[in-house]
Amino acid sequence: MCGIVGYLGNKKAYNILINGLRRLEYRGYDSSGIMLYNGELSVKKTKGKVSDLEVLYKNENDKRGNIGLGHTRWATHGPPNKINSHPHLSNSGELCIIHNGIIENYDALRTVLKRKGYDFKSDTDSEVLVNFIEEIKKSKKVKLGKAVRLALKEVVGAYAIAVFDKSNPSEIVTAKLGSPLAIGIGESEYYIGSDPSPFLEFTKKCIYLNDYEMAIISLKKGLILREITKDTILDPFIENLKHNIEEVEKGGYKHFMLKEIYEQPQSVTDTFRGRLISPSLPIKISSIEKSFEKFKSANRIIFISCGTSWHASLLGEYFFEELLRKPVEVEYASEFRYRNPVINENDIIIPISQSGETADTLAAIKMAKKRGAFLYGICNVVGSSIARETDTGVYTHAGSEIGVASTKAFTCQISLILLMALDLGKRMNTIDENRYQRIIKELSKLPELIERVLSIGEKTERIAKKFIKSPNFLYLGRGYHFPIALEGALKLKEISYIHAEGYPAAEMKHGPIALIDKNMPVVVIATKKGNYQKVVSNIMEIKAREGEIIAIVSEGDKEIESIANHFIEIPECDELIAPILANIPLQLLSYHIAEKKDCNVDQPRNLAKSVTVE
Ligand code: AGP
Repeated sequence: MCGIVGYLGNKKAYNILINGLRRLEYRGYDSSGIMLYNGELSVKKTKGKVSDLEVLYKNENDKRGNIGLGHTRWATHGPPNKINSHPHLSNSGELCIIHNGIIENYDALRTVLKRKGYDFKSDTDSEVLVNFIEEIKKSKKVKLGKAVRLALKEVVGAYAIAVFDKSNPSEIVTAKLGSPLAIGIGESEYYIGSDPSPFLEFTKKCIYLNDYEMAIISLKKGLILREITKDTILDPFIENLKHNIEEVEKGGYKHFMLKEIYEQPQSVTDTFRGRLISPSLPIKISSIEKSFEKFKSANRIIFISCGTSWHASLLGEYFFEELLRKPVEVEYASEFRYRNPVINENDIIIPISQSGETADTLAAIKMAKKRGAFLYGICNVVGSSIARETDTGVYTHAGSEIGVASTKAFTCQISLILLMALDLGKRMNTIDENRYQRIIKELSKLPELIERVLSIGEKTERIAKKFIKSPNFLYLGRGYHFPIALEGALKLKEISYIHAEGYPAAEMKHGPIALIDKNMPVVVIATKKGNYQKVVSNIMEIKAREGEIIAIVSEGDKEIESIANHFIEIPECDELIAPILANIPLQLLSYHIAEKKDCNVDQPRNLAKSVTVE
């Protein structure tokens, strides 16, 4: 959570910082702030969005300076107000810090510093850290780089920081543990970001700091990379980024979420590129090829993840058990890491994450690794911490997802997991050849099928209008559609603040049916094949209690059309592909309800895109 941005070079730092903050706002939007140095150090910050911060910069004179830091906050310590906003200054006013993460021992450090005469304006752990660095710098008479390193050796917690020292105004010191930090290298200029989006239009050369690494970035001496604990100098690995700037712009859509929903045919094409070349050729996922023996001999496969990625994991369980005939478990990373799970060397753990930075998933990976499990990651963000912590894995290649509510990343996750299950099933001989051929043929047409589903956009919008006042929703699905019902409910609650519950359709009669009356909208996924007739019976039960039924059905289904109050058709397809398609109208429904309620669709209250705190 929190986005950090920095610049040092010849350009006007303000422009880079404010644009960078807009792009990083998905990481937190409780408050924001900027520090600029132009002979004098100036800090402006405010509660609220980056647009509120911009208002403070009406005067062009205030925007001067070629070096600066910016921060957009997701509040952890202390309420989201101006005082707790970053950047934070040290007591002398010489040092300035921006921080993403949590310093767990900040209270103990604050007590020590208070005894030495420091005082604190904010409730934040970050203000403690900048003063701790100042105390070390002064008492040990060392330069900023060394002071930061010595301070971080005493710190417990997670951080991506950038620190500026007024007495050496051509340098910024950065460091990372747990939270992400990318450095863009230009011609005699450097950029800092929680991800590369603030500098994509300026440079493609990027260094991702690893945990326990720090970079002293100086306009005079260049960039020096050091290991924090051992204090060794490291050779920086400069990556050539493949992202483009369009990915992080809205491209004419009202919201990123809508753009990302409509991008799904292309995203899935990218997920399948080079992997599903043609139905007549074998699936090619190189990490599966290389780790096939591990999969074959595995006793058990465990998916770990959070939120939407957990829903993808649940569908993964259904796909893998069906096509591989191996025992599969699905775990919330936050529960898994704090229990004492039985894990051994014959287990394969599959963490799934869009951001690749989710703190609980990362911690669960580390724990499973210690216990000898083989870790196969599924991530969207290239070079992310989870991608680097796992033994091997596969990228979803959904492209940048900016909307806090995950849409295209989820669709790519479930499409990829199905492809993996088909590949493994074929290699293990656990799937009937005819069935394999049938599914693979349909799967290779998935982008076109998604395109067809997206054409129901307007109809979904019309249906959405009727429900903007509904306080509750139920989502029901059986079999492969159950994880989609959960995801549909999550999507609605996170962006429209309508309370929604997902249930296996058959569970309804064990409790939730008590909620049904004429004021309860019930979304039922009821495509042909699978448990179709059983779901029809569930729909009849809802109808008998006057619930308002919104049914997601296969094209041409006259039976449900005559019963449901509203229906949305998706192309008829194999029952393993149907959940991928059924999820799309649910995304659109949530989007249109939230948009009509005037909610902040891309930045829902209290949420952040990557949850880098426990
Ligand atoms: C998605 O809409 C959510 N905002 C959230 O549940 C998210 O899926 C979860 O935090 C996991 O994130 P990850 O995939 O980046 O690990």
